[in-house]
Amino acid sequence: MTIQDATQADLPGILSIYNDAVQHSTAIWNETLVDLANRRAWLAERVAQGFPVLVARDADEVLGYATFGAWRPHDGYRYSVEHSLYVRTDQRGQGLGAQLLTALIERAKACDKHVMVAAIESGNAASIHLHRRLGFVSSGQMPQVGCKFGRWLDLTLMQLTLNPGAQPPIA
Ligand SMILES: CC(C)(COP(=O)(O)OP(=O)(O)OC[C@H]1O[C@@H](n2cnc3c(N)ncnc32)[C@H](O)[C@@H]1OP(=O)(O)O)[C@@H](O)C(=O)NCCC(=O)NCCS
Repeated sequence: MTIQDATQADLPGILSIYNDAVQHSTAIWNETLVDLANRRAWLAERVAQGFPVLVARDADEVLGYATFGAWRPHDGYRYSVEHSLYVRTDQRGQGLGAQLLTALIERAKACDKHVMVAAIESGNAASIHLHRRLGFVSSGQMPQVGCKFGRWLDLTLMQLTLNPGAQPPIA
């Protein structure tokens, strides 16, 4: 297994994992399945914005992926990013999520980011546990801000400050 930047060849694997999460989970609060063209445009946009898309790959198979983008669009948030992380259903519980998130944290540091934000459905115990284990702390609870599968969803916000004590840039 290797963790590398995603290429076009990884898009079918990413698509399948993404659509599975849309269809069967509250990990992502979308309800619309997407196609390969959608993921191609998404990857191109991430790359153009200088954001990483990492895949965990075994031979040609995508086992999981992780990425971050802007947390909020305003200038003042430019040192913060919000990430997402998906491991294929049949590959969970073997440490892959931890490896992907660890690699993503390193990339955020290399991109000179200051804070990583995770917005997690409050019932997602595995994700909350994993983030806590890698140093994220809870920074907010937002009851009933989401809705999927006919029920309200609560959001748990967690954050990791990458370089505590760093002075903010002057400009
Ligand atoms: C969250 C996710 C990325 C974790 O991936 P993974 O490969 O299973 O993660 P790991 O095996 O590295 O670690 C999982 C940890 O959660 C723990 N865990 C699993 N289920 C749990 C549960 N129900 N309650 C508490 N902890 C749980 C495991 O024991 C493990 O902890 P440990 O290493 O301390 O023993 C994966 O479950 C996933 O893709 N979920 C769907 C998408 C998602 O929720 N993404 C995150 C959105 S913010």
